[in-house]
Amino acid sequence: MEISPLQQARYAYRPKLPRVFSECGAAVEAVEGAPTSPASDEDAIRALFPHTYGLPRVTFKPAPGKAFAPIRAGVILSGGQAPGGHNVIAGLFDGLKSANPKSELFGFLGGPSGLLEDRCKLLDDSTIGDYRNTGGFDIIGSGRTKLEDESHFAKVVKHCAARGISALVIVGGDDSNTNACFLAEYCRKTGAGIQVIGCPKTIDGDLKSEQIEISFGFDTATKVYGEQIGNILRDARSARKYWHFIKLMGRSASHITLECVLNTHPNVALISEEIQATGRTLRQIVEEIADVVRKRAETGRNFGVVLVPEGLIEFIPEMKRLIAELNDRMADPAFKACKKDDDRFQFINRHLSAESSQAFSCLPHEIQLQLMMDRDPHGNVQVSRIETEQLLVDMVGDLLAEWKANGKYRGKFSAQCHFFGYEGRCAAPSNFDADYGYSLGTAAAALVCAGKTGYIASVGSLVKPAAEWVPGGLPLTMLMNLERRHGSQKPVIRKALVDLNGKPFKKFSELRGTWAVESAYLYPGPIQYFGPTEVCDLPTATLRLERG
Ligand code: FBP
Repeated sequence: MEISPLQQARYAYRPKLPRVFSECGAAVEAVEGAPTSPASDEDAIRALFPHTYGLPRVTFKPAPGKAFAPIRAGVILSGGQAPGGHNVIAGLFDGLKSANPKSELFGFLGGPSGLLEDRCKLLDDSTIGDYRNTGGFDIIGSGRTKLEDESHFAKVVKHCAARGISALVIVGGDDSNTNACFLAEYCRKTGAGIQVIGCPKTIDGDLKSEQIEISFGFDTATKVYGEQIGNILRDARSARKYWHFIKLMGRSASHITLECVLNTHPNVALISEEIQATGRTLRQIVEEIADVVRKRAETGRNFGVVLVPEGLIEFIPEMKRLIAELNDRMADPAFKACKKDDDRFQFINRHLSAESSQAFSCLPHEIQLQLMMDRDPHGNVQVSRIETEQLLVDMVGDLLAEWKANGKYRGKFSAQCHFFGYEGRCAAPSNFDADYGYSLGTAAAALVCAGKTGYIASVGSLVKPAAEWVPGGLPLTMLMNLERRHGSQKPVIRKALVDLNGKPFKKFSELRGTWAVESAYLYPGPIQYFGPTEVCDLPTATLRLERG
């Protein structure tokens, strides 16, 4: 197979590791801190996870010469791709082998379904070598099947036991790590003898907390989008004739959009969390964008860039209500029995409340159909398939036409739509994600070697040079809280939304007025893999502002 010169060169890249690992690999000793508790709902979480609740935090210290028994471990990748995933597996593989060269690592294929259906492959040096520092999850594939009830857990245990696998590493987002927490509890309760370790993955950046600084993948994805946005900004200012509306991935939280804003300074950026907090309607959002277009037109600038987070639609109050109702109606067997779009559409129209019916009827037919598409396995609207950017362009265009008719606006509005999503998820990991993914994998191996279960691998102090990063493990129960899901209280890992009191958002809100009218664009350029460290190893603006 032909390999690009960059990929060839990246094979030779040796990820930087925290000092404790660069000295000993995963042959380290676990140092236990004080017992932990979740930030809220302590009693309920203790009662739900009696066998894994209250575990101590773990860090590592060197243990040169310590002997480790060989271990057979398994790994799955769960959910959407994120750059750095291959390095997690490489770090896990190298870590296990550094503790005992006879250890083995099995990769379950296609995500959680590989575990349920017992599809896996033994990973060896040559396979791992082909994927070091590469993007994608294709080494073993991924999937969105849920591991959530005891019948699933029993299958997992059966399949692992049959292969002599005594430890499982689940690389995933908040949902997958919630399920890892349940699986760890089940294995302890039933004495299954299988350790379960999670690992924080997602480009969305919403699996984070006081203790988890960021998930891997966010750095690379936002750098890819940042480059593309910078290029569009330069094109906009050169051609001076288009408004570009760019939808950015991020299923729910707007971390990706906020990070890209800080790196590029577009004219308008919507942050879903703010829109929800201020209860702005779709009409108000459209008016605000149109007003920036109008103001810029007054100084001859009939161009600009608007960033739209993918999850926006679910944060606009009237749309959120509408989607909740649609979810209920679409679960109705009578809806499922409708075969044609038209019948489904009629059914929905007959069964919506007056308020939601009004919100639904204001949407273009295309968007109505997109909102009626199948939900993902977690019951979520597939926001990557809803053309929110086109919806905004149409509505802003209509409003400007009205304003033009009554003399309030004299400019020209010509728009282009873009969606930057999938192109960021499998890019070759930045040095940060290559190093971070590899360190997380090594931390997962060290937790396995230390006999731990019910932990998520962690690496802290990420704004410092990699040698000073602090690897360890956090008890999964520490991240849990109760949330209302499908009508009842469920223990889940909290999805971290943009903090409107946090430094990244505050910086944006202080500067956005200036960025709206001026063209103070910033061009971050492409990810640099080789060159000065201040360019190549720079962590995200979000991380620098939050932890710097
Ligand atoms: P994860 O949360 O599983 O990491 O996936 C995130 C994401 O990339 C979202 O940004 C996006 O909305 C979604 O996956 C797209 O899902 P799919 O790959 O199923 O189209």
